[in-house]
This record gives sequence, structure tokens and C-alpha cells, in this order.
Amino acid sequence: MAQEARMAVSRTRPIPYGGYHVNSIPDHDPQLTETGPGTPMGEYMRRFWHPVCMSEELTDVPRYLRILGEDLVAFRDKSGRVGVLHLHCAHRGASLEYGMIQQRGIMCCYHGFVFDVDGTCLEVPFPPGEEREGDKARRTIWQGAYKAREEHGLVFAYMGPPGDEPPFPIWEGDYTVHTDDELVPYSNHQTCNWMQVQDNSVDQYHHIPLHTTALVPGHEQGTTFTEAGAAPYLIRPDLQFFPVDDGRTMAWTSSRRFDENKIFIRVNHQILPNVSFHSYLFEDGSKRKHFSRVHMHRWSVPVDDHNSKMIGWRVFGPHIDTRDVGKRHLVGFEKMDFLEGQCGMRRPERLQYGQGELPPVYKDHRERPAYHEAQHAPGDYEAVCSQRRIAVHALESPMKFDQGVYLFRKMLRDALNGQNPAASADGIKTWLESCGGRPKSYCSGNILLVPQASTPESEVKARRGIAADVIKATIESNSLSGDERDAFMQARLSEIEQRYG
Ligand code: FES
Ligand SMILES: [Fe+2]
Repeated sequence: MAQEARMAVSRTRPIPYGGYHVNSIPDHDPQLTETGPGTPMGEYMRRFWHPVCMSEELTDVPRYLRILGEDLVAFRDKSGRVGVLHLHCAHRGASLEYGMIQQRGIMCCYHGFVFDVDGTCLEVPFPPGEEREGDKARRTIWQGAYKAREEHGLVFAYMGPPGDEPPFPIWEGDYTVHTDDELVPYSNHQTCNWMQVQDNSVDQYHHIPLHTTALVPGHEQGTTFTEAGAAPYLIRPDLQFFPVDDGRTMAWTSSRRFDENKIFIRVNHQILPNVSFHSYLFEDGSKRKHFSRVHMHRWSVPVDDHNSKMIGWRVFGPHIDTRDVGKRHLVGFEKMDFLEGQCGMRRPERLQYGQGELPPVYKDHRERPAYHEAQHAPGDYEAVCSQRRIAVHALESPMKFDQGVYLFRKMLRDALNGQNPAASADGIKTWLESCGGRPKSYCSGNILLVPQASTPESEVKARRGIAADVIKATIESNSLSGDERDAFMQARLSEIEQRYG
């Protein structure tokens, strides 16, 4: 009877005090959220390079990692090569996090087997006189290993079938970073599934409730966009989403009328399966600006189905941080310098951990010292990690401004279901090969000199037209590179200003 009463209820028809009718929780969405070995998303993810840790996590002892539900160990051997191996020794399972780093490879602490960075067994110690037997034995045993490489302070691994890896993407050949600018690595643990971290990358609509209030006396500067002086972010954006690159990536615009003469068109870019590019975070809207590039390059990497890492680079330097307000010393492992609440730690300077150690990573959003403070001044970490360890998509109530979340999920499903071969792992590999591993980003920040239209209706029409024209121009600019592309965009954005002026 109770079951029948539940079934008869529609979630879209409000029932006062009707909690009883909606108290059963459906399962999460396994297709998008589960990434362990053998799962559809897990197999898809394993066909891409992912950052797995920061270079600074590789010290004189091996580093335990969990990525895509696999227990791993990462280390840099004494000849400088990086290894990412399965955690448990192929002999009898001791963890290689207790291994000894060698000139070449790593030695298991238990019986002294030595494994190279590619998993080859280099040595099985046998008693004196039986060395030949040891040599024979080492040829029959090997440790699971993944290809690794380091880029700008991050360690990347390819965890798929050997030989199928795509080119490592170096966006535009220089990550869109000017020679005077610098990529600064960071890694922020999230106690939730990767998909909701990725969802948050495209969620540009949460800024006012989440990033403009801070009730904790004496809280850090930068807790809110108001304090960061990023006034345009205090205006609700008009969002438009554009699948581009044949459905492999999605560009989206957030358009805001900043003052009667200026309109802020922010273009962010998201790439299947888990990459996002974000333009300038501290924009104050004070000056005309055309085609400012990437300020944050980020991956949402599954640790397992209940944890993930927001890991990537912040860009520092005069060409992107035009206000010079970024705080480099606050960007790193479990640290981020903007909008407190990017990671569970919140204020890194208050953390207790030993000299030379990395800060601890908390296992749940309620079980950390900053919990009560976070209730007064929540940030992205609190909003995203509290959507349950794995958000239940079946319980969501989508709004128009959530469109990008659902579009990107659809692009992922199409890739997994074979409905968009261009976005399959092979399709993306082919695309990366065709551009020599140098794909183009759509990401840009633009303050355009366009006067406010005379009526609300014509203003809405104009801002949507401007945003669509910016995307159109960016698509056209994709055949160009570097200064040539920049000059093309400067000219096209000036034309747009004239057209709507
Ligand atoms: S368990 Fe590693 S060498 Fe024996
Ligand atoms: Fe946010």
C-alpha cells in the first residue's frame, strides 16, 4: 500500500509536508559515475592522459595514490624517471609504498624484488651461487605499470591498453600561456564522485548565493567575489552552450551587462571527458579587453567512485592576471588562492602537519576541523561534496541555467553509447593526431565596449547575438595560431563592438 502511495506521487506536483512520499533514494547513475576497471566510463577514461599527482608529491619515499579505483604507487627513481605502478607487489602483495627507491626502479621492502618504471622485474634476489635461478625467475614476473610523464609540476599517467594512448595534448603548443606567464600546479581533493566536480565546472550560475556571502568574522580575503574585486561575477549571467569540435568539446558563454557601456563575455571550454578551461577569475570589468586566455586549466580526476581530485594549473603572470591579485603561495597541494572553500582544508596556513610533509586529506566533508566554519561560509567544496558522495541524477530538478550540465553529460553518453564516433576514445585520438597534439582552446575573457540597448528585450537579443558571434569568430580563428590568431580575434571583436554599438 505504502509502495503504491509512493508510486502515485509526482515530484513536480508539490505536496506540503510530503517528505514521506519522496523518502526513497534511487540509485546513482552508473554509466557516468562509475570508473573502476571494466566499467564503460572507466574504460573510456583509461584512453586519456590524466594528471595523477603533483611532482612535489614525489619525494624520497614512494607516494601512495588511488586513481580510477586502482591502488597505485608513484615515485621518481634516482635517475630521475617517474614510475606509476600497481601498489601491491607482484610477488606476494606487500605495498610498494614501503619500497626503497633505487637508481633504477623501486625495490619491494619484503623480499627485495626490484621493478623498473615500466614494471619489468630487474632483480629477484636468490642465495649466493643461485643467481642464475634468480635471473630466470625475474623473467617470469612483472609488475603492473602505467606510462607516466611530467609537465609543469604535474605527473600524468596513461592507464589504458599499451600502445593505444593518444598524443599528449599541449593546447595550442604553449597551453595558451604567454612567455612571461607561468603554469602553477595544484591538487585539491574532493570527497565526492568526479562527475559532480565536472558538473560544477560548467555551473556558472552559483556565484551569487555561494560566492558573495561570508559570515565568518575575520575570514580570509578572497572568500567572495566581492572581496576579490571581481564585480562582474556579482551579476547573474545569461548562459549559452555550444558543442564544438564535432561534439568532442563544449564552449559556453556567460554574458553580463557590466555597465552602460561594457558587456562581459566570458567563454569557458570543456573537453571530453574531464577537462575544463576557465578564463580570468578576477575580472573587474574596468577596462576593454579582447581575447584574454586561460587562467585555469583543470581536470576532474576520479580517485574512486566516492572521491576525486580537482587537479591542474593556475596561470600567473601579467598577461592573464591583469590586476596582479593572484597569490601564488596559496596555490598548491590542498591549497587554492581564490574563493575560500575550493578544498576541504580551507585555510592552509592553519593546518597542522610536519615539516616536509604534505597536508592531510580529509575523508568526508563533515569530518574536518573547518566543518562549522564552512557552514557559515561555504564554497564550491561544500556545495559539490555535499550533493552526496555520488549525486543522484534521478532526483535532480533541472532548470534552464543547468543546460550545460545536461548537455555535457549527454555528450559523454553519446561518446560511450557509440552515438558520436567523433567523441569516442579513438575519435578523440584521431583528432589529437590530426592537429599534432596541439588542439585549440575556445577559452577567452572579453570586455566589449557595447552600449546598453534601449529595451530589456533588445538587450537580451543583443547579448545573445554578441556571445554567439564571439563563438563564431573563435571557430574561424582555429586555423590560426599564436599572434596571428590573437590579431584575428582582436579585429573580429572590434567588428562585433561596431556592429552592436
Ligand atoms: S612481496 Fe614484494 S618482494 Fe615479496
Ligand atoms: Fe564556484
